[in-house]
Amino acid sequence: MEVKTSLLDNMIGVGDMVLLEPLSEDSFIANLRNRFDHNEIYTYIGSVVISMNPYRSLPIFTPEKVEEYRNRNFYELSPHIYALADEAYRSLRDQDKDQCILITGESGAGKTEASKLVMSYVAAVCGKGQEVNKVKEQLLQSNPVLEAFGNAKTVRNDNSSRFGKYMDIEFDFKGDPLGGVISNYLLEKSRVVKQPRGERNFHIFYQLLSGASDDTLKKLKLDRDFSKYNYLSLDSAAVNGLDDAANFRTVRNAMQIVGFMEDEVQSVLELVAAVLKLGNIEFKPESRCNGNDESRIKDKNDLKEMCELLGTEQTVLERAFSYRTVEAKQEKVCTTLNVAQAYYARDALAKNLYSRLFSWLVTRINESIKAAPKSRHKVMGVLDIYGFEIFEENSFEQFIINYCNEKLQQIFIELTLREEQEEYVREGIEWTNIEYFNNAIICDLIENHQNGILAMLDEECLRPGTVTDETFLDKLNTICAEHLHFESRLSKSSKFLTDHSLPHNCFRIQHYAGKVLYRAEGFVDKNNDLLYRDLSQAMYKANHSLMKQLFPEGNPAKVNLKRPPTAGFQFRHSVGTLMRNLQTKNPNYIRCIKPNDKKASHIFTDSLVCHQVRYLGLMENVRVRRAGYAFRQAYEPCLERYKMLCKRTWPHWRGPAREGVEVLMADLTVPAEEFSYGRSKVFIRNPRTLFFLEERRRQCLQDLATLIQKIYRGWKCRSHFLLLKKSQIVVAAWYRRYAQQNKYKRIKSATTVVQSYTRGWQARKLLRELKYQKRCEEAVTTISAYWHGTQARRELRRLKEEARRKHAVAVIWAYWKGLKVRREYRKFFRANAGKKIYNFTIQRIMQKYFLGLKSTMPSMSPIDKSWPVKPYLFLDGVHSDLRRIFHLWRCKKYRSEFTEEKKAVFEEKLEASEIFKDKKALYASSVSQPFMGDYLEISKNPKYQKLNSAMDEKVLLADVVNKINRANGKGTARIFLLTKNSVVLADQKTGQVKASVPLPDLTSVSVSTQSDGFFALKLKEGSASAIKGDFLLSSEHLIEIITKLHRTGATAADSEQLNIDISDEFLVQFKHDKVCVKFIQGGPKNGNSVSCKRKNNRLLEVSVPSTV
Ligand SMILES: Nc1ncnc2c1ncn2[C@@H]1O[C@H](COP(=O)(O)OP(=O)(O)OP(=O)(O)O)[C@@H](O)[C@H]1O
Ligand SMILES: [Mg+2]
Repeated sequence: MEVKTSLLDNMIGVGDMVLLEPLSEDSFIANLRNRFDHNEIYTYIGSVVISMNPYRSLPIFTPEKVEEYRNRNFYELSPHIYALADEAYRSLRDQDKDQCILITGESGAGKTEASKLVMSYVAAVCGKGQEVNKVKEQLLQSNPVLEAFGNAKTVRNDNSSRFGKYMDIEFDFKGDPLGGVISNYLLEKSRVVKQPRGERNFHIFYQLLSGASDDTLKKLKLDRDFSKYNYLSLDSAAVNGLDDAANFRTVRNAMQIVGFMEDEVQSVLELVAAVLKLGNIEFKPESRCNGNDESRIKDKNDLKEMCELLGTEQTVLERAFSYRTVEAKQEKVCTTLNVAQAYYARDALAKNLYSRLFSWLVTRINESIKAAPKSRHKVMGVLDIYGFEIFEENSFEQFIINYCNEKLQQIFIELTLREEQEEYVREGIEWTNIEYFNNAIICDLIENHQNGILAMLDEECLRPGTVTDETFLDKLNTICAEHLHFESRLSKSSKFLTDHSLPHNCFRIQHYAGKVLYRAEGFVDKNNDLLYRDLSQAMYKANHSLMKQLFPEGNPAKVNLKRPPTAGFQFRHSVGTLMRNLQTKNPNYIRCIKPNDKKASHIFTDSLVCHQVRYLGLMENVRVRRAGYAFRQAYEPCLERYKMLCKRTWPHWRGPAREGVEVLMADLTVPAEEFSYGRSKVFIRNPRTLFFLEERRRQCLQDLATLIQKIYRGWKCRSHFLLLKKSQIVVAAWYRRYAQQNKYKRIKSATTVVQSYTRGWQARKLLRELKYQKRCEEAVTTISAYWHGTQARRELRRLKEEARRKHAVAVIWAYWKGLKVRREYRKFFRANAGKKIYNFTIQRIMQKYFLGLKSTMPSMSPIDKSWPVKPYLFLDGVHSDLRRIFHLWRCKKYRSEFTEEKKAVFEEKLEASEIFKDKKALYASSVSQPFMGDYLEISKNPKYQKLNSAMDEKVLLADVVNKINRANGKGTARIFLLTKNSVVLADQKTGQVKASVPLPDLTSVSVSTQSDGFFALKLKEGSASAIKGDFLLSSEHLIEIITKLHRTGATAADSEQLNIDISDEFLVQFKHDKVCVKFIQGGPKNGNSVSCKRKNNRLLEVSVPSTV
């Protein structure tokens, strides 16, 4: 998108009428039309904005547009109301100048819309924040409320403001809104009771009936049907594009935002409803005896409902509509009212009720939006006052409205045209006077204190005697007849005598905006604005929260006989105040123009626009602008603003500001005709020159900004660099420290390694040397040992040799000596000498042998197998004989130490060995076990006391054995007792004797060859014991039992030798059967236990583990 930098860019027609060439009314209108056709509704005349009503929404009021115009120079962009608002806001905020936005134009020209646009723009660009937003919202939302109550549809405008509004928005030093004050001017209250054809009453009536809920309407005793109310015109009740119901919701919402309490809203609506009800009250004449008619209320229902709404007594109001009390000089006179007077009273009440309600609303809104009192607020005033009006029939209201517009024109003229010319004179600038129409004369005609129309009206109203509109007109005709702008048929001036367009009951004023014909009828009444005291007192008495505030004069305690100020007087006064207020502020003008009379878009009626251009004095405005200078500024601010454009004035100019500006202009080579130097200001003729300066300034600012940026960036970079450098030094220092530390550590560890290697090497070297030394020493030692050994052996050999030699010598010598002796003594011992020597030698040897044997005798233990080695071969036989003899002797010695019991034990052991050794595998394990005999300690154990006592004989053996069950081979524990005569089997638990076998009945005992403890006691056939058959038993002490059985059986007097049958298969007699008991080597699956199984009737198989 192309960015606009000047008003001159892509201009349609000319954006500023000052630039129009050639300047004429036609070209002016053509330019407006051209721009209007291109949707350019705004055009400038210098700083004045001309606004054409587009009668449709254009996309030029978006938030983007707001941003576009924000903080931009006035002439920078296309003309826009935002540019004006921005300019005003910025000069308020930055230069502390109070502003006023004066929006003028005829009815329907777009003043109210323009004022809202200005307010919304300011709201958008000023500060933000919760509190500020609330203030903004309240200020903006005051509009819908006031529009609902103060606007109405007219033939000219569907939303015509029927009151004047001036709103002061107050800002703090930052430009944030603090609050506001609204002033309202003369509501057109006559509309409440009567509306011209094609127009409506105030919006609120229609909004209430369309938008309120059924419930609300019921409470207000209203009917939704407009036709039920006399005060509502029906022909134009519905307006195109106006949604009353929706607007009602908007209004209620706005009231809530502004700060109305719910009960306040309700009270307001009650009064609105009461006005509607009031309109429905009708009167009928009732003849009185004095011939006068007296009014009576026709149907009291509406009155009743109205009284309920207002909380008044029905009778009081009824009376007030029939009688009137006049007080004069402490006299009270009560007169009856006829029907016409009653209607007048009713309408007066309705109008007063409504207009006072409206004023109360404004006061209430002001209460909400008022800023906290502070020493100084900056103020921006927005004036949206009813536009200049010319109706078919113009009455007092139009007169007042048009007077107000005259005053505004006046202030416009004063502040723009006259002020401008005067300024040139003041500044000593050459100036060609421009003729313009000054409407001061018209203002004077209306407001002059002595002979102004308003003064005369007041005079007439206050005059005693009969006062009518005619008397007023007469007065005008006499006094104003000579006035250039006053026209009347009855005036002394003869020129209007034949003017048939001027009826007799009218007068005409040539306003600045055109001639307006006013009907004198109603002027006096409306100016008086009288409300019968009875009515105001009735209203004051009403039991309603608002009524006492609305009708303070009704307070009987404050009866004031002085007439209240007239409407005209009040208005003139408030307009005067407004004008004085506006004059203290910097004015900003928006001149609204209506393009057509049809409220239609795209239609541009030249004549209508031309008329408005004329009466708004726009041509004069342009001319003055063009004749003069488009822009002026005091030297100091001008120099301050543009001094950067010239090297000599930048950055400081020491001399006077004017010279500085001269230097500046000269330097910029601005053509001389483009500017003039006044006494205190420089005047720039053409906006283009200003644009040029502004553009140069902008560029220069950009350059300066670039320079500042450059310096700042340089500074920032340098600071950054210095920081980096500093940081780098720190980092480098730390890094170096770290690197050095690492290096040091590396060197240290390397040194340690080298050191360790060196030390290792040195140590190894030393070790080697030491080893070598040691080896050397060892070698030396070895060598020396060998050497010494060799020497020793040699010496030993030598000594041996020597000893041998000596021995040999001795032997030889002995032999030789013997030989010599023998030879010598041969002759003497020849026969026995050899034998004697031999015996002697033998004797000596034997002696030595025995003595040696004595000292080396082994111990006396029979199992000690040691024996000294034989000393001589020839004693071999003797030596072994001696050994045997010694052993036998030793055994005998050992035996001789035995007691009888020990002897018996050994005998038993001996017998066991004889019976079982090498026959039964179990034997080996029994050798080391002493035979204890009584394993159960039967004599001591009290458990077996009974069993013991049952025994006749001494128990030789008592043990627990397993009696093998013949049927299944399983064992049952039994006590086995052996006495000298019998074998007894008893129950292990009870000790009861199960079987007692006398030993003589026992023929044999069968056992296996294996390591099991099974034994069968075979009984003598036919014996008493043999009835049950043989016993097959198993015992851990089998060897001892059998041995003892064998010995006892042998010693038993009448028994034969007990046979011990050792075999792996033997027969056992079980009752009548003979069963073969077979012992087999058991496999590993049986584990280490001996198991016995009955295989069949004839075979009992005992599996014996091989390892047991
Ligand atoms: N800028 C605009 N854009 C769109 N429509 C507009 C604009 N200005 C005015 N209008 C239309 O013109 C109508 C009349 O405008 P507005 O009420 O502002 O006139 P006014 O000058 O205030 O009249 P009055 O003096 O009767 O109050 C508006 O209701 C709206 O439809
Ligand atoms: Mg308006």
